Amino acid sequence: MNRVGVIGFPVEHSLSPIMHDAAFDALGMSDWLYDAMAIPPDILRLGLREPRDHGYIGINVTVPHKEAVMAFVRPDEKARAIGAVNTIDFRSNIGTNTDADGFIEDLRANGIAPEGQSALVLGAGGAARAAVYGLARVGAEVAIVNRTKTRADRLAAHLKASAGISGVKVMTLDEAADRDMSLIVNCTSVGLHPEIKQSPWIHGVPFPEGVTVYDMVYRPANTALMQQCVAHGGRAIGGLGMLARQGAIAFELWTGVQPPVDVMISALRDALEEVKDS
Ligand code: ATR
Repeated sequence: MNRVGVIGFPVEHSLSPIMHDAAFDALGMSDWLYDAMAIPPDILRLGLREPRDHGYIGINVTVPHKEAVMAFVRPDEKARAIGAVNTIDFRSNIGTNTDADGFIEDLRANGIAPEGQSALVLGAGGAARAAVYGLARVGAEVAIVNRTKTRADRLAAHLKASAGISGVKVMTLDEAADRDMSLIVNCTSVGLHPEIKQSPWIHGVPFPEGVTVYDMVYRPANTALMQQCVAHGGRAIGGLGMLARQGAIAFELWTGVQPPVDVMISALRDALEEVKDS
């Protein structure tokens, strides 16, 4: 049996087993197993050794371990730049981060070429770091707005020091709204279930004309921010595709097989539909 899985704490709400199992099923890979393992932070080192010693091929890493595991693996450039590891390959002990590529791939899958975008990233946490890194790497122009400006300044400085990414601007929402933005990416947790009426876009601030909003929040599927943007004539994309694609990249890394992303997306959609009102 080939084993992979996810460590986190808590981990029971993780959707990763659902999407990976759906891909294994679709491909007839019945000799592959994906488990969720709850590992408290104080035993993280042991929590990594256990699956490694038991022959796991690799694991995903989720909250709250994404930064801490960096000390126990060999982080690649993406992981170092993003400051977090979400996927480990135990065969090489390399830790990588698939969020940036998952995000960029999902933009492309939605017909958006990220290269020429003038992008505004809302937020300055781990999700924002992946978005800024991914966008800047493909040559998009990137500005960041965050509630706590100093955190956005630190993000920009970190990307410069760790990956040589310069030209990322930090600004206020008012300054950003005056610019000619083609893409707004929400990387804050604002609007996430159950606070579904909240939006990171200040009410009354106009949206740039023809803008696309990409909301990394995927629960609910249609966030308040997405609704606001569409009401102003823009386009809106939810974060479910990114969730599936960052998982698909890990899947391919471990198995060498490209998984059916559409199957993973519909498994996620079904699972979220089931918990919709809970
Ligand atoms: P993640 O790793 O998922 O990105 P995080 O590091 O907790 O999570 O980051 C959450 C982001 O959402 C931050 O940018 C945070 O802003 P601060 O840096 O000012 O904390 C943002 N955020 C969370 N709640 C918010 C709120 N009510 N209004 C505005 N921004 C908020």
